[in-house]
Amino acid sequence: MSNQKRDSFSGKFGVIVAAVGSAVGLGNIWRFPYIAGENGGGAFLLIYIFFVIIIGIPVMMSEFVIGRRSGSNAMGSFRKLAPKTSWWLVGLMGIIAAFVILAFYSTVSGWTLEYIFQAFKNSFSGKTHGQLSNDFNNFTASSFHPILWQIVVMAITAFIVFRGVSKGIEKASKILMPLLLVLIIAVCVRSLTLPGASKGLEFLFKPDFSKITFKVVLMALGQAAFSLSIGMGALITYGSYIRKDTPLLGTSFQVAAADTIIAILSGVMVFPALFALGGESTGGPGLVFITLPGIFQSMPGGYVFGILFFVLIFLAALTSTISVLEVVVAYFKEDFKISRLKATLIATISISILGIFCTLSFGPLKNVKLFDKTIFGLADYVSANILLTFGALLIVIFTGWYLGKSKFIDEVKLSCKVNPIVLNSIVFIIKWVAPIAIGAVAIGAFFIKDLM
Ligand code: TRP
Repeated sequence: MSNQKRDSFSGKFGVIVAAVGSAVGLGNIWRFPYIAGENGGGAFLLIYIFFVIIIGIPVMMSEFVIGRRSGSNAMGSFRKLAPKTSWWLVGLMGIIAAFVILAFYSTVSGWTLEYIFQAFKNSFSGKTHGQLSNDFNNFTASSFHPILWQIVVMAITAFIVFRGVSKGIEKASKILMPLLLVLIIAVCVRSLTLPGASKGLEFLFKPDFSKITFKVVLMALGQAAFSLSIGMGALITYGSYIRKDTPLLGTSFQVAAADTIIAILSGVMVFPALFALGGESTGGPGLVFITLPGIFQSMPGGYVFGILFFVLIFLAALTSTISVLEVVVAYFKEDFKISRLKATLIATISISILGIFCTLSFGPLKNVKLFDKTIFGLADYVSANILLTFGALLIVIFTGWYLGKSKFIDEVKLSCKVNPIVLNSIVFIIKWVAPIAIGAVAIGAFFIKDLM
C-alpha cells in the first residue's frame, strides 16, 4: 500500500507524545515497583538504568529506523527490507508478544477501573495494610468483576485504535501524560513525608550488591524492554507513522528519559510508603494496588486524590494498550487486506479470550500452573523476559548486520544533523555492545536453573 494513504503523526511533538504514551503505563507504575521489590531494590535499579542506556535506546532507534524506512507494520517491514529471507519471523514473534502482553495487561488495566470505583466509594478509608491486601486478593479472585472490567478495557482500546493513529492515539496522550506526572510527584511528596519513609528510599537507592544474581539481571533487562515498549515491533509500527523530518535520535532519548523518570518516581511513590505502612517489598502484582490506597488515606484531600490517581493510571495504561493492539491491527489490516474495523474486531476478540484466562488465574484457575507459575504469571514472565528480550536481540542484529551502517545512518540523517562521532558510537553499540549484552544474559539465563 502506498505511503500517502497511511496515517501519520502530526509532527515531532506528536511522535514523542505517542511514544511516551506507549512507554509510560502499567510497566512503570505497577510492574516496576513489584519487580524491583522482588529483585533486590537498589541493585535492580542500577542494572535497569544500565540496560535502558546500552540496550533500550539503541533498540528504540533501530525500531524507529526500520519502521520509517519501510513504512510498514511489524511484520511487513521485515518483508520489505529483507525480502526472501526469514527475518519476517521477528515480526511474527512481535505479533505473538503483542497477544500475550495485552492478554495480561488488560487484566491489570481492568483492576485500575475497579479501584477508581472503590476510591469513589471511599472504601479504602480507615483500613490497615493487611485489610487492603485482603480486599485486593478477594477482588482479583472474584472473576466476574475483573473479567467485566477487562472487557471494558479491551472495548475502549479497540474503539480508539479503530479511529486511527493521529486522531485517537495522539490526542489522548497529549493531555494525559503531563497530568499524570504532576499527580505522581504529589503522591511522592506524601509518601516521602510519612514517618519511617527513609527505609524505603534506602531500599530503592542504596544498592546491595550481594543481591545481584543472574535472575536479577534477566529481570532488569526484561523490565527495561517492557517499560520502553521495545522488542515487539510496537515502535516499528509507530515508526512507520513518523514523518521524515522528525529527528529519531532526540526522540529516542527523550522517550527513554521520560519513561525512566516515571518508573523511578513510581518507586519513590511506593517504597517509602510501603515501609512506613509495614508492608513487604515482595508483595507481587498487588503491591501498588495495596500500597497506594494506604498513602491516600493519610493525605489531605486523599479522597479526591485517590480517584484522580486511579483514573490517570487507567489512562496511562490505555495509551499503552492502544500501542500494543495497533501492532496486531496494522498487521492484520495490511497483510490480510481487510478493513480497519474487521482487523480491530478480530484482534480484540481473540486477545480478550486469552486475557480472560489470565484474569481467571487469580481465582478459579489459581491452581493451574506451568513451571510453578499461574497463567497470568507465565504470560507476564515469558513476554518480558523471553519474547521481548529475544525480539530486542534480533532487532539490533538486523539493524547492525543486515540493514547495515550506511542505510541506518541515511535514515537518521534525513531529519537531523548528528555529530559523526555520536552516530558512529551508536552504530557500534547497535552492532556489538547491545547484541553481546543481550546474548550474554540470554545464554546465562538458559543455563541457570530455578530462574522461573
Ligand atoms: N511499555 C508499556 C508499559 O510500560 C507497555 C507496552 C506498551 C509495551 N506497548 C508495548 C511493552 C510494546 C512491550 C512492547 O506499560
